[in-house]
This record gives sequence, structure tokens and C-alpha cells, in this order.
Amino acid sequence: MNITIIGTGYVGLVAGACLAFVGHRVVCVDADSDKIGVLATGKPPIFEEGLESLLRKGLAGGRLHFTTELDGAIEEAELLIIAVGTPSRADGEADLTDLWSVVGRIAASACAGKLVVVKSTVPAGTCDRIEKTLRSSAASRRVVDVVHNPEFLRQGSAVQDFLRPDRIVVGCRTEEGRSKMKELYARIQAPIYACDRRSAELIKYASNAFLAMKISFANMIADLSDRLDARADEVAAGLGLDRRINPHFLQSGIGYGGSCFPKDMKALQALGRATGCELPLVDAAERINAARPRVLIDALKAALPSLHGAAITLLGLAFKPMTDDIREAPSLAVCRLLAAEGALIRAYDPLVRRYPIREADLYEDMYAAMEGSDAIVLLTEWDEFRQLDWMKARRAMRGGLIVDGRNMLSWDDMTTVSGQYGLTYWSVGRPALVQGTVGRLAPGAFDRTRAVSPVS
Ligand code: UGA
Repeated sequence: MNITIIGTGYVGLVAGACLAFVGHRVVCVDADSDKIGVLATGKPPIFEEGLESLLRKGLAGGRLHFTTELDGAIEEAELLIIAVGTPSRADGEADLTDLWSVVGRIAASACAGKLVVVKSTVPAGTCDRIEKTLRSSAASRRVVDVVHNPEFLRQGSAVQDFLRPDRIVVGCRTEEGRSKMKELYARIQAPIYACDRRSAELIKYASNAFLAMKISFANMIADLSDRLDARADEVAAGLGLDRRINPHFLQSGIGYGGSCFPKDMKALQALGRATGCELPLVDAAERINAARPRVLIDALKAALPSLHGAAITLLGLAFKPMTDDIREAPSLAVCRLLAAEGALIRAYDPLVRRYPIREADLYEDMYAAMEGSDAIVLLTEWDEFRQLDWMKARRAMRGGLIVDGRNMLSWDDMTTVSGQYGLTYWSVGRPALVQGTVGRLAPGAFDRTRAVSPVS
């Protein structure tokens, strides 16, 4: 099929590269000429595993093209995919400015026989309004259908998620639209779930909200585990063995971030307000998440004599591993709180090279970032932190406190490590390990006398 994708953000670009890979002829359009220039050389502007090789293959095979010429690209295609961003407005609602500007350009083009597919995350009812706009213009009146086809790509595994999805959701009105969508995805093995457009639009928000809610639920139970001297990871593992619950997205820690969950939760709350429908579970999930950075700061405060002047090393700044994206990353909130307390912040992330908080000194070497540090705080589950050389870390540090904001290190390993190197290890919803033994927890904090380990 001849496809034009409008918007080369994360979703548009991954979709473009993957659809070209499965044999379609794809033109990707973006208003940003610098970005298009770089993409045309096969270089992705974002870090995403497998993307560069697909871009290069698509370009070399002549199936993938990049342009800033929107009108020409609309004309050529039989299937138009809108993948522009829908960021949060100040009031939390999705900002559809870019989307409506693209719809305006499509409405001015001859669209007979073309299918318009909206991949952007949009509030329920948006595709109905898009169709009305297109049908009211003489040029675009004979558009085949307007389809909502949400994406469920995770950053870091977006290419795999696109090529091997759990399901493909297609919200459309006509049989012709549905059959063209089947043709689009013919070479991707996944069930196509066809439904009405408004439901498809809501499925996207509901999916993200449900996952965010699972994380906040796990964090709520982690706080309770902390009070009860239980272990949050063991509780989550036992919980996840029930197939009705499943083990995914029950990892407790510093909470969720990124460009999707926070934005979509706000948009859902705005939809609730606009329709007069209360969404208490969404509100609670948001509230629990917003309070997570404070849990880490409280732990640090309880374990260190003072945060003022304390040297704190942050390991991981990105909102999740395998990406350099720091949008709404929990590290930002932790950094701001530490800076407000007067701590000296040293930070290392394998990919993040620019960080908006000037109090944070960035290092390119993990052990250099630990030099003279009182505490290490793990904020992103990068694999290299699991392979950390604790002897080297201990030598570099001034103090001996390890705060695991992601519960990423194995309890058994850390029991050995903390005993061997005289470290105190604290993680979320698990008792502290003080020099190899389980420390006693006071409600919401450490037993200060046991949590501070002497530096040998
Ligand atoms: C999320 C969804 O998972 C995708 O399905 C969706 O398509 C995407 O948003 C989107 O709307 O575009 P993403 O934001 O890339 O994908 O990342 P996730 O893997 O979902 O992680 C989000 C955040 O939750 C991260 O900060 C992660 O560290 C955190 N998380 C995840 C936890 O704290 N605990 C968990 O158990 C899982």
C-alpha cells in the first residue's frame, strides 16, 4: 500500500519504519526540516532499539521516504496516518492543535478513496468530529472512512511491540475501512480487534490508566509492606501468580514517568470533569504516584545525619531503561527535592547527556559519580547497575548507604554485598539490610541508629 504518515515523533517514526519493513511504500512527513534532513540519512533522532537498522533498510530498499511536503504526500497516498503529538494543555486536556491543523490540510486535498487513520491518542469523539470536518469539505467529502488505530508501543521496545503486538485495535465505521486496515496489517501476526471509534479512542486511555493504576497499587501495597515488615517484592510475586492479575506492572519503587502515563492520566481526568463522571481510581493512582519521590527523600533523611551538604549519587535519570527520555522522569522530582534540601547531586545515566536541573553534576563514568558520595540512589533499572562492582563503589564512596528506588537489586545478593562491604541497603517496601542483617523499621522511616553504617 502507499502510505503517508504525518508526524515523525516516536509513534509515527516507529510505525513508518515498521510498515516499510513489512513491505509497504511509506512517506513520512514532518514540518521540522532539520529532523527530516537527519532522518533521510537513516539516523533516528531518538534512541530506540532496532529502529536505525529498519530506517536504513527502508531507505536502501526505496520503500521509505522522508519529506516536509505535506500536500504532495497527502495526494500520493491511499492511506493517511495521523501521528502528531497530543500533549497536555495547562488544564490537563489533550492539546489537539497540531491534529486539527493536519486535518485542515487533508480537508483541502482531494481525498476520494483515501482512508484516514488516526494513531494520535485522542479523546473519545475526536474521530467523529474529524470525519464531519472532512465530509463537509468538497475536496475531502469522498474519504473512505476515518479510523482510530491506537498504538501500545513502549519506549525501549517499540519496534518489537509494533511488529509483535498483543492486539491491533481498529475503531471504524465502514466495512471498507476495516478491510483496508486488515490489508495494512496483513503481515503482522496479531488479532485485530475491531470496534466502534469512540470505544477504540477510550481503549487507549483506559489501557494506560489501568497500567498506571497497577503500578500505584503495587506502590500502595509496598508502603503497607514497609509498615508491616513484609517484603513488597514477595507480595507482588505472589499476587502476580494469579492469572487474573498477572505479574506485569507490579514493580514497586519511585513510580511511573514518561511522556505517556502522566499525560494520559491528566487527559482522562479532564474527560471525567468534562462529562461529570467521577474517576476516583484514576485520581488515587495519580496521587499515589506524585508522592513517590518523597518516600525516597524520607528514607535518605532518616538514614543520613543531614541532607544539607550530603553528597548523593543518582544512578539513572531516564524515566525507564533503554531510552534517553527524561520527560516526567521521577529523577526530576527527586533531584528538585534534593536540591531544595541543599544536597550535592552527582548523577550518571548511560544515555542521558543533558539534564535540565543545574544543581545536578553529570558524569560519564559511573564510579566517578560515586566519588566522595554519602549515598547512592538507583532511579532507573539499567542492566549495568545490576552488574555494579561493589568493591569499587565502596572505595569511591564516603558513606555506605544504597537506596534502591526501583527494587531492582536482588535481596539475596544485597544481603551478601551489604555484609561484605559494610553497606546499608534500603529498597521500597522491603526491610533495610544493615551490614548483612535485616534492620528494624520504624513506621515510614529507618531506625536511625541501625541504618547508618560505619565506613570502614
Ligand atoms: C506506555 C505503555 O506501556 C504503552 O503500552 C503505551 O503505548 C505508551 O505508554 C504510550 O501511551 O505511548 P511507556 O511510557 O513507553 O509505555 O513505558 P512503560 O514501560 O509503560 O513504563 C512507564 C513507566 O512506568 C516507567 O517510568 C516505568 O519505570 C514505570 N513502571 C513500569 C513501574 O514503575 N513499575 C512497573 O511495574 C512498570
